[in-house]
Formats: sequence, C-alpha cells, structure tokens
Amino acid sequence: MKQFFNMFDKSQEIPIGSDHGGFELKQFLIKNLSKEGYLFNDLGTYSEDSVDYPDFIHPVAKSINDGLNIFGIIICGSGQGASMTANKYPNVRAALCWNLEQAELTRLHNNANIISLPGRFLDFKVATEMVKVFLDTDFEKGRHIDRINKIPVSL
Ligand code: RB5
Repeated sequence: MKQFFNMFDKSQEIPIGSDHGGFELKQFLIKNLSKEGYLFNDLGTYSEDSVDYPDFIHPVAKSINDGLNIFGIIICGSGQGASMTANKYPNVRAALCWNLEQAELTRLHNNANIISLPGRFLDFKVATEMVKVFLDTDFEKGRHIDRINKIPVSL
C-alpha cells in the first residue's frame, strides 16, 4: 500500500469534485482558498444542474489512488455518497467531516487523504477552515500506522 507522509505544500494541486449538492461550496472553496495560494484542479461539476455524484468523485479518488496528488476534496449534499464512492479505491482514505475537530483528527489518526464535505449542512466559512486544517495537519504515525494498515480487505 502506498503511504504518503507529510508531503503537502501549496505548490501541489488539489483535485476537487462535487455534484450539484456540493457545487456552491466547491465554488466558494476554490474562490477563497485560491486567494491564499492553494492550487485546485476543478474536476466538476460545473453548474447546479442535477448530476450523479460518482461521475465527479471517481476522477478525484483515482488521482489520489494513483499517487498523482497527495490530497483531494469531494463534496455532495450529505458527503455520504461522495465518501462511499471514494473509499472503493484501495489507496484512498476518504473522511466525511462536519467540523474542525473531525478534519484535524482524521489527519492525525487516519492519515485521511480525501476530505468529504456535506455541502448542504456546512457553514461555508467553517468548511474553508476545515479544508485548511485538513491540509495542514500531519499524520501522527506511531500506533496509527498499524491501524490504517489493517483497513484494506482481500476477499
Ligand atoms: C443529491 O440530491 C444528493 O443525493 C447527493 O448530493 C448526496 O447527498 C448523496 O449522497
């Protein structure tokens, strides 16, 4: 299993994808975090027209799974379908987060590499801070390495 530790900096592109339920938050994040120097690869959706979330989550998850990017952001209305889709990839640990503490803890303990946001349930300014905390927090390693290595299954 590929493991990336503490390798993110602002020069690295962040793939971001959403469905219509996450479109408004995606646009808000790109607009506001770009001003702070973060680089995004916007993989859609590109309007509020109704779409199927897997079509826009798979490309983000694939780029993380294949090691093309360190961290990704996925958004749907609830964050649930997006995280379910992304977690089908063996090298992805997508974490559904709804507050700052969750965003920090899932980096510290789970070495999460994708943050999944519920676009219809978050204050957008809080979501912006959550993304920054997620990107800026290092994995704690130690006992958590063994634990995340026990996540994959071979059936
Ligand atoms: C779309 O209406 C909604 O179902 C979707 O954004 C997401 O919440 C699914 O998990």
